[in-house]
Amino acid sequence: MRIEIPREVERFGPIMFHDVQKVYELDAGLRFAKNEGQENSTIVRLSQESINGIEEKMVIVVPVMEERIKLIEGVLCGIPNDCLTIVVSNSPREPIDRFYIEKDAIEHAARFMNKDILVFHQKDPLLAKACQASGYKYILDKQNSVMDGKAEGMILGTMLANLTGRKYIGFIDSDNFFPGAVLEYVKEYCAGFCLAKSRYSMVRISWHSKPKIVQSNLFFAKRGRASEHTNRILNSLISTYTGYGTEIIKTGNAGEHAMSMDLAAKLDFSSGYSIEPYHYINMLERFGGISGNPEKDVLKNRIELFQIESRNPHLHEVKGDIHVQDMSRAAMEVIYRSPICPESLKEEILDDLYNRKLLKSGEKLPETLSYYPAICNADLKKFAKTLENHEYAKFFKASTIKKVKNETPGLIREKIEGNVEHLPDQDKVLEMK
Ligand code: GDP
Ligand code: CO
Repeated sequence: MRIEIPREVERFGPIMFHDVQKVYELDAGLRFAKNEGQENSTIVRLSQESINGIEEKMVIVVPVMEERIKLIEGVLCGIPNDCLTIVVSNSPREPIDRFYIEKDAIEHAARFMNKDILVFHQKDPLLAKACQASGYKYILDKQNSVMDGKAEGMILGTMLANLTGRKYIGFIDSDNFFPGAVLEYVKEYCAGFCLAKSRYSMVRISWHSKPKIVQSNLFFAKRGRASEHTNRILNSLISTYTGYGTEIIKTGNAGEHAMSMDLAAKLDFSSGYSIEPYHYINMLERFGGISGNPEKDVLKNRIELFQIESRNPHLHEVKGDIHVQDMSRAAMEVIYRSPICPESLKEEILDDLYNRKLLKSGEKLPETLSYYPAICNADLKKFAKTLENHEYAKFFKASTIKKVKNETPGLIREKIEGNVEHLPDQDKVLEMK
C-alpha cells in the first residue's frame, strides 16, 4: 500500500489524533524493500509482507443480525485468510432458527475458503455462564442471558479475540455489498498498525464515498447523514479543552475500526449503536488527563489514532430513516452524558437535536444507553475455563490467557462523575502536552 502521512496531528494529553490519510495505491508490491515505511517525506510504502505480517496477528469480528446469507458470505470472502474470523450473531432462533441456517452456511463456505471461522450466537447460555464466572455480569439481563445489541455482541467478540492471543482486533459489518471493500478495510487496518509506534493504537475507516441513486444516476455522497453531526460535536468537545477550533475527527460513527488488543482491553463500552462515538469519549475520559491521572504506561507509550480514507465506495444494506435517526440520537446522548461534556456543548447538542426534529422542542434528552466496563475487568482465565471443553476452546492460546493489568478498574465515567465541578480544566490538559 502507498499511503500519505497525516497532515495534521491533534494532541490531547497522551492521545494523538491523526488527520485522515489518503491511500495512493492499494497494493504497492512485494518485497520488504530498503524504503519500507518511507517513500519520500510524505508518502509511505508498505509492502505486502508488512501488511500480511499484521494480518497474521489479527482477529476480525463480524457482528450479524438478520442479514442475508449471500451478503454475509461476500463479507467473509473479503477477509484475508490469515486473519482469524469471529462471527457473532444475534439473529432470531424462533420461529425459524435463522442462526442455525447462518452457522451452517458459513461453516460450509469456510470449508471452501479453508479459513478459520468461529461462529457463535450472542445468547449462547454457555457464554453467559462464562461471563458470570469471570465476574463480568454487566452485559447480562435479569434472566442471566446476554442482552441484545451490537456493542454487547462486540464485547463477547473482544473477549474471545483476546483469548486467541492475537495482537489486533478489527470489526467489519456483515451487511457490506462489496467483498473488495472489506478486503480494503482490513488492509488499511494493517497499514495503520504498521505506522503505529505505540502498543495502544486504533484505526478507523473514513470511507471515500457512499453511492446513491439520484434521478436515475449514481451519485457518490461524501458523508453519511449521522456522521456530519457526530463529528462536529466531537470536534467541539476537543476545542473546548484545547482552546483551538478543530476538524480533526472525521470518523465519529465509523463502524469499521480496529484496535491493538492492548487498547481494546482497556476501553469501556456503551450499549447498542453508541459504541463507535463512545470510543472517542471514553479515550478522552480515561486517558485525556482531564480528570484524574491516566495510567502511567499509557502516558509513556501514548495512544495513536489513525483515520484512513478508503477507496472503494461504501455500500451497505439500507435500513431506513428511523434507524439512522436512532443511531444519531444515541451518538449525541453518549457525548451529552459524558462527565467531561461542558454545559455549553450540552446546549449545542440539544439545539442540534431540536433543529433536526430528533427531539421535540424543550424536551429533555431521554437516557436510553447503558455503560459497560472495559474487558480488563473480567477474569478471562475463568472465562476460558468455562468454555474449555467446547468448540470455542480450539481457538484459545493457553499461554496468553492472563488478567490484563488495569490501574483504574471499573467504569471510568462513574469515577469522574463526582469530580465534574472543576471542568473544563484546560490548564491541566495543556500541562500534559
Ligand atoms: P449501520 O451500518 O451502522 O447503519 O448499522 P447496521 O444495522 O447495519 O449494523 C451494523 C452491523 O451490526 C451489521 O452487520 C448488523 O448485522 C450487526 N448488528 C446489529 N445489531 C446487532 C446485535 O444486536 N448483535 C450483533 N451481534 N450484531 C448486530
Ligand atoms: Co450497515
